[in-house]
Amino acid sequence: MNEERVFSLRNPWFTWSVGGTIAIAIVAILIGFVWLPSASTAFGGLDLWARICGAAGVPSSWYGGDKSVPATVPSEVVVLPPQRVTHAAADSIGRGATIATQNCSMCHGVSGTPPVTAPALAGQYADVIYKELRDYQSGQRLSAVMQAIIAPRSEQDLHDLAAYYASLPRAEATSSTSRAGAEPDANAARLAMQGDPERNIAPCAACHGQLDRKGAAPWLGGQSAVYLAAQLHAFAAGDRHNDINEQMRNVARQMTPEEIESLAKYYAAMP
Ligand code: HEC
Ligand code: HEC
Repeated sequence: MNEERVFSLRNPWFTWSVGGTIAIAIVAILIGFVWLPSASTAFGGLDLWARICGAAGVPSSWYGGDKSVPATVPSEVVVLPPQRVTHAAADSIGRGATIATQNCSMCHGVSGTPPVTAPALAGQYADVIYKELRDYQSGQRLSAVMQAIIAPRSEQDLHDLAAYYASLPRAEATSSTSRAGAEPDANAARLAMQGDPERNIAPCAACHGQLDRKGAAPWLGGQSAVYLAAQLHAFAAGDRHNDINEQMRNVARQMTPEEIESLAKYYAAMP
């Protein structure tokens, strides 16, 4: 056997090994660039060429993939950081008060005892109330009760309602640990103030206002434990999906049902 014969198409070993290598490469390309990207939700809604470019790591602006991608961020409402929100005008608060007294406050505290399924709104941040109302209106956040109530409201109404509720003092805690005769759960307090880095849970207090605040994160103190636990379960299951960049879903998915219960009680006991 000499050198020329080895690299000859007449040599079956050569033909088969080169042919086999090419076949494996083609199959690998089809799997990696076509089949896997089409099965992955990350490339959902893109055409074949955009998927191939996306899988190869080409910036989406180069192949125009951006335009055909359905918004991956589930909520289009970007809320200004609270520091930038100027004080609401008195007439806006007044208009909000009129709408709220007639349509909202019987369920949302302020007048009478609210049902445990409805959040207290007095003293809530204005950006939160406005964003949640927008999300009910657009269907980003689902609720049989709230969507029907808020559907006919104008943009100005939403701002006025937010300004009104934000101007009220916060209500008392709905339950107090001393009344229940128990210390605040140490595990809940640790998750709230320190989080759990190993599970990628940031401290709740870093977003929800006790230590620091991220735009659109509600004040949690004083809500009923029933409401808080229901929202956390809804985030964990993905039934509630209006949080920008999945900030809350990523946290809630990591929590055990016991942690959800104990944190709900922890915040219900906080004013
Ligand atoms: C029949 C009772 C009822 C009435 C009336 C009502 N709501 Fe609600 N509201 C609820 C319930 C229940 C929820 C929680 C729904 C959910 O799970 O998403 C809610 C949620 C909300 C939230 C979300 C708060 C948060 O922290 O996420 C806002 C804001 C709100 N309502 C504002 C209003 C306004 C403004 C009105 C009047 C125009 C109103 N509601 C009238 C029952 C009511
Ligand atoms: C990275 C910031 C961040 C962290 C950390 C975080 N949250 Fe949230 N949370 C948010 C934002 C933002 C929202 C509002 C989502 C929306 O509706 O747009 C929210 C909403 C909620 C709600 C729904 C409240 C309501 O009135 O609708 C609950 C309950 C909640 N978070 C509990 C927790 C708990 C408990 C922890 C800690 C284990 C936690 N969050 C950690 C950002 C955060």
